[in-house]
Amino acid sequence: MALVTTKEMFNKAFEGKYAIGAFNINNMEIIQAITRAASRLKSPVILQVSKSALKYAGPEYLKRMVDAAIAETGIDIALHLDHGPDLETVKEVIDAGFTSVMFDGSHYDYEINVAKTKEVVDYAHARGVVVEAELGKLAGVEDDVKVDAADATYTDPDQAVDFVKRTGVDSLAIAIGTSHGAYKFKGEAKLDFDRLATITEKLEAAGIHNFPIVLHGASSVDPVSVETCNKYGGKIEGAAGVPNEMLRKAASMAVCKINMDTDIRLAMTAAIREVFGEQPSEFDPRKYLGVARERIEKLVEDKIKNVLGSANSL
Ligand code: G3H
Ligand code: 13P
Ligand code: ZN
Repeated sequence: MALVTTKEMFNKAFEGKYAIGAFNINNMEIIQAITRAASRLKSPVILQVSKSALKYAGPEYLKRMVDAAIAETGIDIALHLDHGPDLETVKEVIDAGFTSVMFDGSHYDYEINVAKTKEVVDYAHARGVVVEAELGKLAGVEDDVKVDAADATYTDPDQAVDFVKRTGVDSLAIAIGTSHGAYKFKGEAKLDFDRLATITEKLEAAGIHNFPIVLHGASSVDPVSVETCNKYGGKIEGAAGVPNEMLRKAASMAVCKINMDTDIRLAMTAAIREVFGEQPSEFDPRKYLGVARERIEKLVEDKIKNVLGSANSL
């Protein structure tokens, strides 16, 4: 078993109408929790590293800890750069052994996004690494927003086809109403599933079959974790995530990769706050980080079973 790209994972996920969880990693406990849960449920998994995680832990540390997780669990894992800002960072992680990279040019003008993404694709493909790109702006849209405003930020289906054709990317992150962090919706949660369906229809019509779509900002923001944080001294107000049934619907459509970071942060913080609150004399880091690791493991198990549907697909 080894580090793999996402190619086969996505082919199987598209056909099987499920999604692969992409979880952000920063340290040993998070890596162990995610990979142990995935291994127990025989689920493929993507571990992803942001630019700030690279800065925090270092690519070598992260890569070696992931290698250790593969040795321990015996499962295939894709190691992915999340929101890569430039070719330089892409080169750095490919040198460190990552198997997948995201280049996020969504904030550039369209033609610049195309050109920069194509440059990354050419570089990565020559080295056997797959590429995810992003089109559309991942801003949370409020309930009463006018359709025109959504059109200005959400992914344009015709542009998505043109983008995939011209860049040769392996997967595409789209904007249909999700956003990063713990405050995703002011009122009722809404995702533009019609837009997602149209993107796939237009890709198919252009001869691009079973193309994997990625959903960023897809944490469900568990109210129990938020309440636990607040009960033990936290101050997280007005938090709202994507309802699980919406994530399941997206997974049954063309979404093959569902990104979650906030849910791990909340589970970890809730666990640590609870230990500190209940056992104020405790100061052994293994006592609170160990509890945090257990909680994350449970969270990932729940995601695989009840949201992603990726169990028993290795
Ligand atoms: O999409 C962003 C991820 O949640 C990573 O966040 O840059 O704080 O590590 P970060
Ligand atoms: P959340 O903030 O919803 O966990 O999204 C994480 C993400 O998209 C990482 O790229
Ligand atoms: Zn993201």
